[in-house]
Amino acid sequence: MRTLLKNPAQIVTVATTRKNFKRGKDLQEISVLENHSLIFEDATIKDLIPNASIINESGYKIIDVKDKIVLPGLVECHTHTAFAGSRANEFRLKLAGTSYEEIAKLGGGINTTVTAVRTSSLTELVQLISPRIKYFIAQGITSLEIKSGYGLNFENEIKLLQAIQHLQKIFPITIIPTFLGAHTLPNEMKQKRNLYLEEITHKMLPFIAEHKLAKFCDGFCESTAFSADEIDIVFSRAKALGLNLKLHTDQFNTIGGINIALKHNAVSIDHLEVIKKEDIAKVAQSDTVAILLPGVSFFLDYEYAPARKLIDAGAIVALSTDYNPGSSNIAQLNFIMSLAAIKMKMSIEETISAVTINAAHALSLSKEVGSLEIGKKADLAVFNTNDYANIVYNVGQNLNEMTIKNGNVIFQNKF
Ligand code: NIG
Ligand code: FE
Repeated sequence: MRTLLKNPAQIVTVATTRKNFKRGKDLQEISVLENHSLIFEDATIKDLIPNASIINESGYKIIDVKDKIVLPGLVECHTHTAFAGSRANEFRLKLAGTSYEEIAKLGGGINTTVTAVRTSSLTELVQLISPRIKYFIAQGITSLEIKSGYGLNFENEIKLLQAIQHLQKIFPITIIPTFLGAHTLPNEMKQKRNLYLEEITHKMLPFIAEHKLAKFCDGFCESTAFSADEIDIVFSRAKALGLNLKLHTDQFNTIGGINIALKHNAVSIDHLEVIKKEDIAKVAQSDTVAILLPGVSFFLDYEYAPARKLIDAGAIVALSTDYNPGSSNIAQLNFIMSLAAIKMKMSIEETISAVTINAAHALSLSKEVGSLEIGKKADLAVFNTNDYANIVYNVGQNLNEMTIKNGNVIFQNKF
């Protein structure tokens, strides 16, 4: 079927002329078309044509988007959406002055959520996660990464990944599963680090690779979690089994995670709130995407990653909510774009590149999605505004009105 998405105020193409990511000053270029319409056939973009050249509309399904803005479907590239329970009590403690790291050292934090996940069935997890995915779709998100990492033993990490696999079948968007067994030591293994690492490398990873339960293997390189040497062991095994890599690092402490991630050609390095000056250049010169998570800095009320320095040095920067129950209980990507603009001094255009093409690149999806170019998938978000700046300017307000995945309207919000 041929569809004509007709007469939008602007089409924000985020075109890259086939490079499929934006580095440094290129993030500023989002290639906006006016007086153009978009044609797709089934799931694929066929053309972007001047309105004046539309002669015959018969044979097309028409979607009238007059006075609205069309963007590539947004890509949410780092979430911990697969969780159970609540950490509202720990949030109270944090508001009263106890730090995130102190809560983790007392056996709370990630381990609080681990207890809640272990006592939930696969069906309960699917029920808990489903409305969260709908919330993302309603924002124009058409590709979504979800990590495990709250099971922290064979049975429960696999249960989480199987829940994600089930959700892939229910929802029409692209859901990318990431294995995060190396999130932290589960409480019962705190004194048995090697044994837990062995469970990851000899039990969990081989099973996950064999059953194709994850595309990426992630880890948390931090003094309350794993050392760089330990991450090195996990990454070597994951890579040998065919998984691609991501790493949480330099969130609170710099303990060598960046070097390990770059050594293994990780697809992304995430957090970087406390990245050292000399590491900025290393990340910027690499092909690894720097995923910045300003929602965490806001939620925990501490410093923001040096987005400006990274971009000015030439890095491939993406943005994400890091949606999770402990450090960023924020599931709204447009709010993250506003935070990035206000607190990290990114321009509106840079935030758009960071949640489209660069976020797609951080999931190794950017050959198919992340920009509106001929041959790419017809994944689109239609916003009820006539200027893309309003998406970032209207802080915390969801202006998305229609989400299109593979050429099909999967969400429509109309009164
Ligand atoms: O990305 N840094 C570690 N992991 C998550 C937080 C997980 C949690 O607190 O539940 C993050 O911030
Ligand atoms: Fe995270």
